[in-house]
Amino acid sequence: MAGEESTASGRLPSFSTRLAFIIVTAGSAVGLGNIWGFTYVAGKNGGGGFVLIYLLALAFVAAPVFIAELLLGRMGKGSPPTALGNLQQQTGSRVPWPIVAWAGLVGTILVLSFYCVIAGQAIYYALVAAGGGFADWSFEQVAALDADFKANAPGMALWAAVFMGLTAAIVSLDIRAGIERAGKIMMPLLFLMLMGLVAYGAVYGDFMRAVTFLFGFHQMDLSVRVLLEAVGQAFFTLGIGVGGIMMYGAYSGRDVKVGSATAWIVAMDLFVALAAGLAIFPLVFASGVDAAAGPGLVFLTLPQVFTAIPGGAFVAFVFFLLLVFAAITSSISLLSPTVARLEEAGWRRPVAAGAMASLAFLVGLLTVMSFSDWSDIHPLAFLGLEGLTAFDLIREGVSNFVLPLSGLAYVLMIGWALRKDAVQKSLSMQDGTLFQFWHMAIRFIVPVAIIAMFLTALFG
Ligand code: TRP
Repeated sequence: MAGEESTASGRLPSFSTRLAFIIVTAGSAVGLGNIWGFTYVAGKNGGGGFVLIYLLALAFVAAPVFIAELLLGRMGKGSPPTALGNLQQQTGSRVPWPIVAWAGLVGTILVLSFYCVIAGQAIYYALVAAGGGFADWSFEQVAALDADFKANAPGMALWAAVFMGLTAAIVSLDIRAGIERAGKIMMPLLFLMLMGLVAYGAVYGDFMRAVTFLFGFHQMDLSVRVLLEAVGQAFFTLGIGVGGIMMYGAYSGRDVKVGSATAWIVAMDLFVALAAGLAIFPLVFASGVDAAAGPGLVFLTLPQVFTAIPGGAFVAFVFFLLLVFAAITSSISLLSPTVARLEEAGWRRPVAAGAMASLAFLVGLLTVMSFSDWSDIHPLAFLGLEGLTAFDLIREGVSNFVLPLSGLAYVLMIGWALRKDAVQKSLSMQDGTLFQFWHMAIRFIVPVAIIAMFLTALFG
């Protein structure tokens, strides 16, 4: 059949064109992390200075790891455990590589578990806005909407289930009819809506103050925590470290040039994060609500803005729909590796997608409870992790530990165990300065940066 490649582990589907690969993989990168995450992390950490560190982390650590993860999938040709197993065999290494992939699969379920709860809230808010909500509301009403949503655990679970259901429905289909088509439809719409919102912010908001906030320098304290947060955010936003990108690498056609595709994907991801900042902060500043509100920025602070602006309900609807689209194109990439692994074990795709989506939903109940009845329960307080709910532990544990550590494993595999010429061939990149720089980055810069970061965090 066209578009399928025979491999040792069966038939592996592929995306139809180079552009399709770039769009779909950019869809995995662009997500809640860009809009909900970036704006609040940048807001909380004081803007410009943080943005600069984040840019450095993105270019010198996260982007090289992104290329490494794509390559492992391309060279290993299979779901992450299969791909790493194949590569381990080829190198004759005695280190059990697939363990990293299995840990990554657990990571995909953990990320999905809280992702679906936040995306569920976005779906609910989009519907409230579609019903004319937010316009002319009082601030108390907005605060009550968020508080009532979080007080009602079954309701929160319901919207999370709706989101996981949508994700499973798309992943159930074949790669081209499901994941690829969803990306091709949603990504252009997402860009359009985002540009509309930036234009709106420029006309009705305090645009210059937002620009100064995001790109100007302010006082900030440069702590290890800020550094960890910048690196964690860079990994999370590119979606590396759990095998989602490895899976898409396995689906990439032979004609894809990994270097330039990565440049496009990272650029789009960065563009969306900055544009989201330029859409949100002008309105936030113009209305005088707090820019450093933290995770509540998009569900609490921003809706207060929607109450006061012309066409508030419509703007709110466009904004939350944008958030839902961004979340879906990411969640399908998170569901795809476990589903592919089960398919290799003989499961039918829809059954595998349903099972894994249900598992993520069930683990997600921990996040639902953290936001509601268990908001005062800190499960690991006895280990000194005080003040962290189950949600905090899952989110910070995955972003700050699982992602960088698997990233480290990926670059060590490619940098030290695989042959340099084979790697270069699979990249479809010239043996020029760029390749040499990247290879040096994954052999030295990235490992040193990640290890140094952990040592400082442990002993600093
Ligand atoms: N990158 C997405 C975002 O910014 C989320 C995401 C997709 C992700 N795949 C991932 C996060 C893998 C961590 C690991 O919202």
